[in-house]
Amino acid sequence: MRIGILNSGGDCPGLNAVIHGVVGAADQLGWEVIGFRDGFEGLLPPGDYSILKPKDTIGILKLGGTILGTTNKGHFAAKIGKGDIAEIPAEIVAKAKRTMDQLEIRALIVVGGDGSLTTGLQLYREGWPIIGVPKTIDNDLSATAMTFGFDSAVTTVVDALDRLHTTAESHKRVMVLEVMGRHAGWIALWGGIAGGANVILLPEIPFNLENVAAHIKQRDALGHHSTLVVVAEGACMPDGDLVTLSANTGGEIRLGGVGEQVAARLQELTSKDTRACTLGHLQRGGAPTALDRILGMRFGVMAVKLAQEGAFGRMVSYQAYHVDSVPIEEAVNKLRLVEPDGELVQAAKAVGICLGD
Ligand code: F6P
Repeated sequence: MRIGILNSGGDCPGLNAVIHGVVGAADQLGWEVIGFRDGFEGLLPPGDYSILKPKDTIGILKLGGTILGTTNKGHFAAKIGKGDIAEIPAEIVAKAKRTMDQLEIRALIVVGGDGSLTTGLQLYREGWPIIGVPKTIDNDLSATAMTFGFDSAVTTVVDALDRLHTTAESHKRVMVLEVMGRHAGWIALWGGIAGGANVILLPEIPFNLENVAAHIKQRDALGHHSTLVVVAEGACMPDGDLVTLSANTGGEIRLGGVGEQVAARLQELTSKDTRACTLGHLQRGGAPTALDRILGMRFGVMAVKLAQEGAFGRMVSYQAYHVDSVPIEEAVNKLRLVEPDGELVQAAKAVGICLGD
C-alpha cells in the first residue's frame, strides 16, 4: 500500500508534526508514504515528490514551516479574490491523476485550509481517494473546534502585546497591533484577551472609532495613559471596505493596512501619540507550541486510520478533546466566524475590553 501526502495553502506551525504522525503511523502498517512538494503542484508531471521514511522525519516535530514546501496559488487555487470558488480545470486534474495512477497512490492526504480542502473536495467528487486534514492559523474552518497552528499564532500575538505594553506605558501612547486571520477574528480575539489588549476590533463586529476614542479618553481620565488596540486584518474601517495590499495574482486578495488607518484616525480623535505595528508573517513562522505539535501529530495519525478504513472524502476533526472525522463538505465554504454575541465576546466585554460597538 502506498499513500501520498501534500500540504497546500499558507504554511502553518504544526505541519511537520502532521507529516511526522502520518509517516510514523503508516510505517507501523508497512505502508510507503510519498510526500508531494509545493502542494498539488507536486502532482503535475513529471511529479515532484520523495519517499518519506521515519528516518526522514526525525526531529521535524518541533520545526515550523513544512519540509514539503507549499503554495497558496498556482494551478490548484480553489479560492480567489474575496473567497470566490474557482473550479480546477479538467486538463490540470487529468494530468495530476496520471501521476497518482503511475505511482499507485491509494490514498491522498491533503493538509490544508478552506481553499485547499475545497480543491480536495472537487477531486474527491471526481473519484480521488482524498482524506483532509484541517490546517490554518486563522482557525476559521467549520466542523473542527480547532486547527493546529492557531495556538502558535496566538502565542506570538501575546508575546508581541507583552512587548508593546512596556513601550506604550513608557510613552503614554496608543499602540495598534494588526494581526492576521483573514475574514475571521479568532487570532485577534484570543491574542487580544490573553495579551491584555484594551480594545479589540474584529471583522465580525462593526466598530465605531468614536466609541474607541471615548474609551481611550476614559482610560486616560482614570490614570491609564497607554492603550493597546488589536485589530484583525479583515476588519473593515467604518463605512469602508476591506483594506488590501497589492493584488495577489492567482489567489485570494491580500489583506493588510487597516492597523495604520485605525491608528491615524485614533490619533486625530484623541490627540494622543499613536503608533501602528503589523505582526504579519511572524505569526506563521517559528516553532509550533506544544499544543500544536500534539494536535498536528494526532491529526496525522487519524488521517492514516481513515485511509486504512477507506473513509475517503472525510476530514480529520477535533471536537470536545477528541480527534475524529467529518465529511469534507461539512468543513468548507462556510467559514467559522466569531459569534458577535457569543460567550467569548461577552467575557471580553465583562472584563472591560472595548470591541468598538
Ligand atoms: O490564511 C493564513 C494567512 O496567514 C492569513 O491570516 C493571511 O491573510 C494570509 O494567509 C497571508 O497570505 P500570504 O502568505 O500569501 O501573504
